[in-house]
Order: sequence, then structure tokens, then C-alpha cells
Amino acid sequence: LFKAKEAFTIWKINTKELKMDLDDWQKEVLAVDGNLVLRSGRQVGKSTIISIKAALFALEHPDTLVLVVASVERQALLLFEKTLGYLLDHHKKEICTGTKRPTKHVINLKNHSRIIAAPCGLNGHGIRGYTADLVIFDEAAFIPELVFISIIPALMTRKTRIVLLSTPFGREGFFFNCFSDPTYTKFHISSLDCPRANKEFLEHQKATLSQAVWEQEYLGEFSERLRCFFSTELISSIALLKRLEPASMLNPVNVRPPGAGALEGKKYMGVDLARMGSDQSSFCSLRRTPPGKIEMFDLKVTEKTVLTDSIRLIKELENQYNYFKVAIDSAGLGAAVYDILNETEGIRRKLVPIDNSTRSLDREGKQHRRLLKEDLYANLLGLMQRQEILIFDDPELIMSLRSIQYEYTDKKDIKIWGAYDHITESLTRAAWLAAKDKGLNIWVDFK
Ligand SMILES: Nc1ncnc2c1ncn2[C@@H]1O[C@H](COP(=O)(O)OP(=O)(O)OP(=O)(O)O)[C@@H](O)[C@H]1O
Ligand SMILES: [Mg+2]
Repeated sequence: LFKAKEAFTIWKINTKELKMDLDDWQKEVLAVDGNLVLRSGRQVGKSTIISIKAALFALEHPDTLVLVVASVERQALLLFEKTLGYLLDHHKKEICTGTKRPTKHVINLKNHSRIIAAPCGLNGHGIRGYTADLVIFDEAAFIPELVFISIIPALMTRKTRIVLLSTPFGREGFFFNCFSDPTYTKFHISSLDCPRANKEFLEHQKATLSQAVWEQEYLGEFSERLRCFFSTELISSIALLKRLEPASMLNPVNVRPPGAGALEGKKYMGVDLARMGSDQSSFCSLRRTPPGKIEMFDLKVTEKTVLTDSIRLIKELENQYNYFKVAIDSAGLGAAVYDILNETEGIRRKLVPIDNSTRSLDREGKQHRRLLKEDLYANLLGLMQRQEILIFDDPELIMSLRSIQYEYTDKKDIKIWGAYDHITESLTRAAWLAAKDKGLNIWVDFK
């Protein structure tokens, strides 16, 4: 490693210009010229510093290609936009204008370097055909192994640098293995060491999350206890439907897929609402097809919306599809939306309140040992294993399913958690309605 001070001369960074003081480890990250792997807790500033590194690399190395990759487009664009922001703030004159001006995915520099953002998806399709000088994988632990095996060799020249950054996830695979690869400079940053960390928030998280999740998400530790709930193979076997609408899920404007009116079968919607303004909300629609299968036919994800937007979207979808049942969180923030919809003629009788924290009753009416949330997930898992459900072949949906982890509690119960669980939450709710309605045996046991 270079010393922090040298880093500044090498990369010609002036901290005053940056409008923020870099943490020591961030300065060291900038100084590394070679392969680099970084694991950390949430929100320590890893995407920020790597986005600056991407910009500086392209400025310092004329005629090169920097590729910013993540498993889904949204994630790749988050880092890419930070790179563009940094360049606009500090090196605007170096950015091409006119026909070569920055687009959503490409920045052309006057020194003939380019920075490109691309999602790699499940099989690396989006990054095939590039040869890059610097490749950055954001949330690298969530990138399917197949991408690394099949794509990395083709991306590389002798001098290609690889940068991987992520919160840890799973104790196997490319990201995990890089930590024992001597050609990588390694960083491990805990959220507790971040000078900007909100101590109260972290204490609250520590108190609410399980020990294993806390260690993974905030201390940046690879967990021994947390396992994937849905295997990649299982997901691939049921993710067969091409999406009906090409529009981004994050753009709910285009809510009417072609031919929607012709969809047969009873329809069910599962809703997961975001905490105010921050997270994503998800609206998942399933229908029972005549041969008795359950099939996804609509999926909306909204970001940074207010509750009234969610209510409007639910009403629009209801007008369009005339659902048989709609499941929506009735605890926490969902309660307000639930209450308002419950006063709305037409939709009231269709509403099914879902409270993830309540216990469900088994068929004999006895208190069930598991929490309802675990029942919902077990139901979806059973449908998937029996090939009774088909879902969109959509990267955001698949990433959400892959992010779901479970652990056994000391009482041998199962506890489920997911870093990107919003879409899956809405899917489990819709699938619960659809399966329950059919009178299926919903008390599936999962090993
Ligand atoms: N050195 C710094 N000084 C001040 N603010 C910073 C610094 N580094 C990062 N930040 C800010 O901290 C926040 C989190 O940064 P960033 O998104 O890069 O973290 P992350 O580790 O990638 O988070 P996540 O776990 O959500 O992916 C952002 O608002 C960013 O602008
Ligand atoms: Mg990040």
C-alpha cells in the first residue's frame, strides 16, 4: 500500500475540492493500483470512493475503458452516477460534449477514455464483448458465480485491474475467494468505524437484528450461520416468463401490459410498502392459470414515493385487473394505506391484512410455532419446488429472491431475512393468497 499522503500526489486529489474529508481507508483505496477487494458494513462510503477511483483512473489513463458492473442496472447506475457527478464537479472540461456527451450509461472523456455502466444479470450477457482496463463490480457478493466464470477471462487483458466491493453474502464464490487471493489488496471496514455512523441507529439495528445479520450487514463479516433460502438453480427453474413490458420496473407509469384484458383466471396482488420515502415498494400480481398453476403477470416497483402514490397505484391496478384478493401489510407503515383502502368501496372486501409479526394458526386451530412470515416463505418455496409457480425472468426480482437468507434460532426455529427483500415480500403475499385459495396444503415443511 502507498501511504495516504502519497496517494494524493499520485491521484492529484485536493481534499478541499472534494468538499469532504476522505477517511484514511478511502485514501488508501485510491492509492491501490491493481486488483482490490473491499468488504464492509452498510453505508461506510465504499461506492462513493470507488466511483471517484473510476473517474480518476479514466482521467489518468488515456484511451482506456472503465466498466462499472452490478447484477442489476439500478445498482450499476448508482455508482456510475456518482462518477459522473464527481467528474462534473471537478473535471468538467475533460468530459466530451455534443454527440459524445454523457448518456445514461456512457461517459466519454476528451482523453479518449470511456466509463460504461452495465448490469451483468444472471449470466453476464450485459457485459459480453467488452475488453476493459478497469472493471468494478458493485455489490459483488450478489453477482452470480456464472458471470465470473464465463465473463471475466474475456474482459481481461494482461493489465486489467479488478475492483470488487460488497457487503458480505455467503461463504463461497468469487468475492469470498478473493479474500484469500494474494493478488488482491484487501479492505475490511466495519460500520462502527465509520466517523459518519449514527450511533443511535446502529444500536437500534443491533438490538433488532439477529446477531448473524448484524455481523454481516454492519460489521462486514462473512456469516457462518446465514444460508440462502432460495437456491439459484431453483429460481432459474421457475423464472421462465419473459417480462410483458420492456419499461423499467422503477417506472410504474406504464402499468398496462399488452393483452392484459385477456388474462384469464383469478388474480391476486401482494403489496409490500416502503418506509416513508426511502426504500422501495413492490406490487406483485399473480393469477391462477386454467391448468392450475400460478403465474406472475405484473410486477411494479416504486422508489421514493409517498403513501398516496401507493394507494393510487393499487387502485389503478385493481381497476385494470379486478383482483380476487389483495394482501397488504397491516402493521407499521402499511397500516395507514390499509385503513384508507379499507374505506374504499369495491376494494374493501378484497383486502387481506398481513402482519409479518403475528403468529398464524394451524389447521387444528392451535397456535403455530412459526411466525406467519416464515409460513409465507415456506409456501412460496413449496410452490417453487413443486413447479407450481412461474415468475418473470427479471433481474431485480431474481436478485431479491437470491438475497433471502435464513438461519436457525437457538430454539431450532427458522428466521428469515433479506437485504433486498421488498419484491420477494410482495411475491410471498400474492403466492400465499393464490395457494390458500386453491386449498393447497400450505403447511409445507422446509429443510
Ligand atoms: N468521506 C466522506 N465524507 C462525507 N460523506 C461521505 C464520505 N464517504 C461517503 N460519504 C457519504 O456517505 C453516504 C454513504 O456512502 P456510500 O453510498 O458510498 O456507502 P456504501 O458503503 O456504498 O453504502 P451501501 O452499503 O448502502 O452500499 C453517502 O451519502 C455518501 O455521500
Ligand atoms: Mg454502495
